[in-house]
Formats: sequence, structure tokens, C-alpha cells
Amino acid sequence: MAVTIRDQNDADADAVAALIGVAFADEPAVVGLEADLARRSDSHGFVAVADGVVVGHVRLTRGWIDADERMVEALVLSPLSVHPERQRRGVGSALVAHAVGAAELLGAPAVFLEGDPGYYGRLGWRPASDVGVSAPSRRIPGPAFQVVTLAGFRPWMRGRLVYPETFWTHDAVGLRGAVRAEVEEALDRSDDPSAGAASAGELALLDPHVRGDRAGVDALLASEFVEFGSSGRVLGRVEIIDALEADPGGARHVADLSTRRLGADAVLVTYTLVGEPGSLRSSVWVRGDDAQWRLLFHQGTPRATGTVTP
Ligand SMILES: CC(C)(COP(=O)(O)OP(=O)(O)OC[C@H]1O[C@@H](n2cnc3c(N)ncnc32)[C@H](O)[C@@H]1OP(=O)(O)O)[C@@H](O)C(=O)NCCC(=O)NCCS
Repeated sequence: MAVTIRDQNDADADAVAALIGVAFADEPAVVGLEADLARRSDSHGFVAVADGVVVGHVRLTRGWIDADERMVEALVLSPLSVHPERQRRGVGSALVAHAVGAAELLGAPAVFLEGDPGYYGRLGWRPASDVGVSAPSRRIPGPAFQVVTLAGFRPWMRGRLVYPETFWTHDAVGLRGAVRAEVEEALDRSDDPSAGAASAGELALLDPHVRGDRAGVDALLASEFVEFGSSGRVLGRVEIIDALEADPGGARHVADLSTRRLGADAVLVTYTLVGEPGSLRSSVWVRGDDAQWRLLFHQGTPRATGTVTP
């Protein structure tokens, strides 16, 4: 099947509506969203055509990053559709690549979308929070809000993404109710690079070589770090750095390490520090504006050896 991708024109409207109707059979409202987006002068549609038939479609529409310095025009990719009979043959990937190329030519510094990171991650998209841009609604699950940065992107372009009004009038932002819960649960279960960064940081802080290195520990602790130690003492950032430098201790062994995302920029890490009697450890890792993960809070509690009373 030879597929070509070209700009969408007015004559494509019915074919695109029919395509979106079948691709988004569970979400018929997307047809109306596309029709209204197509009327905007700041929106660009592209169609994939095979044998003269429209088999795929993608759209870019101007939004803004609400950065400290000024509003920055960026593009939002939505919707993306491939006819069910033509799926899994690379048409979706080709449409996304075409849209990203078009966005570069339009001078946009970045393109944002809401979608499954399992699909878009393979195409080079990453969580927008990695570059300091937060989603326009808290109803968009963190890992689903993704970005591709382009040549014009600069590190100061951080802040909230503002969607064009059409997405709001169609209530086409984020998810609600049972669907939202289901997607958030599925994303929690999937491989999460943020959870990986948090648990890697936690294990680094248990490494005697890191513990004895002031700069190494300093880089891993958030400015407001506090620890409720297993001794019952409360320790601040400087006290911990001093104490670890004075006594980095030996190698430590960890069991039952698990991570749980608390939000887009927070991960809970829990584990058992193996020993006699061993201790139960919990840490909250947070991601800063510079996209680095740091330990905000740590607590260690000696493991009970006898009968447990809450
Ligand atoms: C999502 C969609 C555009 C993909 O189009 P496509 O032409 O099938 O995509 P491609 O052929 O480029 O890629 C297909 C691959 O992605 C995989 N894939 C599709 N959706 C996926 C997902 N949610 N997570 C992980 N992988 C996914 C497929 O399994 C396939 O991989 P395989 O070939 O190794 O089996 C198409 O399925 C579609 O129109 N779906 C309905 C509308 C929709 O959900 N749009 C996206 C909203 S964000």
C-alpha cells in the first residue's frame, strides 16, 4: 500500500470526518472537535492517502507555553487517526513524523500531545514534565502528556501549556471518571522512567562511595530535605551531609524495593534495609524545575521482630 501524506484541504472534510468516526468509534465527539479545529487559521491538518482514499489524518493547532518571560507559541498534536483496516502498517508513525517535520518548518519550538506513552515513546516523545512544561489540566495523567522539542526550544520555555479554546469548548482535554481511573492505573503499572530515576537515586544514596562524597549527596537531596531517622532523631540537609561524610558506613543490602508515583513530579520509594533487625525505609523523591529528581523526605523505622501492634 503506497501512502502519501499531504496538507488537508476543504474538499477532504467529509472523508476526514468519516475516518475519525470509525477510528474513534468510542469517542464520537472527536468528529466535531476536528471540524471546529479545521476552521481555525492557526491549525494545520494532514491526510494520509492510499489509492486516492484518505486512510489517516493528523492535526496541529497553536497553543502557548505560559513561560515566566513571555507566552511562547507551540503546537498541539490532536487528533491522530488511522482507519482500523489500515492500522499497524506504519501510517500512524508516518503521520506523526510528518506533523513533527511540519512543526519544525512552522518554527514551533515544541509539539505537545496527550496519548499513550507506550505508542508515542517509541516515536521519540517524552514526558513534557522532563522539560518543565506542565499539562493544561490535572485530568491528563502525567506520563500521557508528552512533548517533542524542536530546534527553537530553549530551557527557559517552561511553565503551563495553554490549549486553544476549541479543546475546552469540546471538553476534549484530559480524561474523566472511570476512563481516567483506568488509564492512571494502567500507567502506574507500566514501566515508569521517573520511578526508575527515583529508585536509582535511592540506591546511590546507600552506596558508601556516594555517602562519603559531600557533592554527591548534595546533588541528590532537595533543598528542603528532612529525615526522621530510625533513632527517632530529626535531621536536616546539612546534618545528614555531615553525618554521612563522617561515617559513610559499609555496603547495604536492600529487599522489597517498590515505587509508587504520587503525582507527575513525586515518587514514593519503600524498601527494607536488610540487617539485624533491619529497618523499613520510605522516601519521597520530587522532580525540580531543572527536571532532576531529589530526595525530599526519608524515614527509617526499625523492623519489628515480635508481635506487631500498630
Ligand atoms: C493510534 C493509531 C493512530 C496508530 O496508528 P497505526 O497506523 O496503527 O500506527 P503504526 O502502524 O505506526 O504503529 C503501530 C504499532 O504501534 C503499536 N501500538 C498502537 N497503539 C499502541 C499503544 N497504545 N501502545 C503501544 N503500542 C501501540 C501497535 O501495536 C503497532 O506495533 P506492532 O506493529 O509492533 O504490533 C491508531 O491505532 C488509531 O487511529 N487509533 C484510534 C484513534 C486513537 O487512539 N488515536 C490516538 C489518540 S492519542
